[in-house]
Amino acid sequence: MEKIVISESPEETMEVAMDLGRRLRDGEVVALVGELGTGKTTFVKGLARSFFIPEEVLSPSFLLARTYRGKRVLHHLDLYRLRSAGELLEVGLDALLPPEEGVTAVEWADRFPELIPKDAIWVTLEHAGDDRRKITIRR
Ligand SMILES: Nc1ncnc2c1ncn2[C@@H]1O[C@H](COP(=O)(O)OP(=O)(O)O)[C@@H](O)[C@H]1O
Ligand SMILES: [Mg+2]
Repeated sequence: MEKIVISESPEETMEVAMDLGRRLRDGEVVALVGELGTGKTTFVKGLARSFFIPEEVLSPSFLLARTYRGKRVLHHLDLYRLRSAGELLEVGLDALLPPEEGVTAVEWADRFPELIPKDAIWVTLEHAGDDRRKITIRR
């Protein structure tokens, strides 16, 4: 199944993410793909909002992963700085792909597709004008 949405603002991207978030089951993985500034982190903020996570979701680029807890649990991974798939295994973060508890959202998932479970939901974000983004969701 594929869904394509045009978002005209960060708020709209968050709403698209919230709509997906409400449908997610624990143990699922959301694999995010898109150039810098397309809204991957904004999308994760929307997922967090749908889980009633009170904390602000920040770009974890300087970290590999963060776990947020609200009504549900959201793990936020960013593979931007990961040098090899083995590095993720070394620190045990492959345990989040898929997670036993909660949902995992992964930015730059296409850098190491071999780390992403086969039944993951892929979300691709593309620039489509100043504040416009094309969002493709495949599950
Ligand atoms: N329609 C939109 N959806 C998402 N972000 C948008 C949109 N329009 C403008 N932006 C801006 O683009 C930037 C996206 O940043 P971010 O979510 O951190 O992207 P990424 O994680 O992909 O690098 C933010 O500054 C946001 O305000
Ligand atoms: Mg980001």
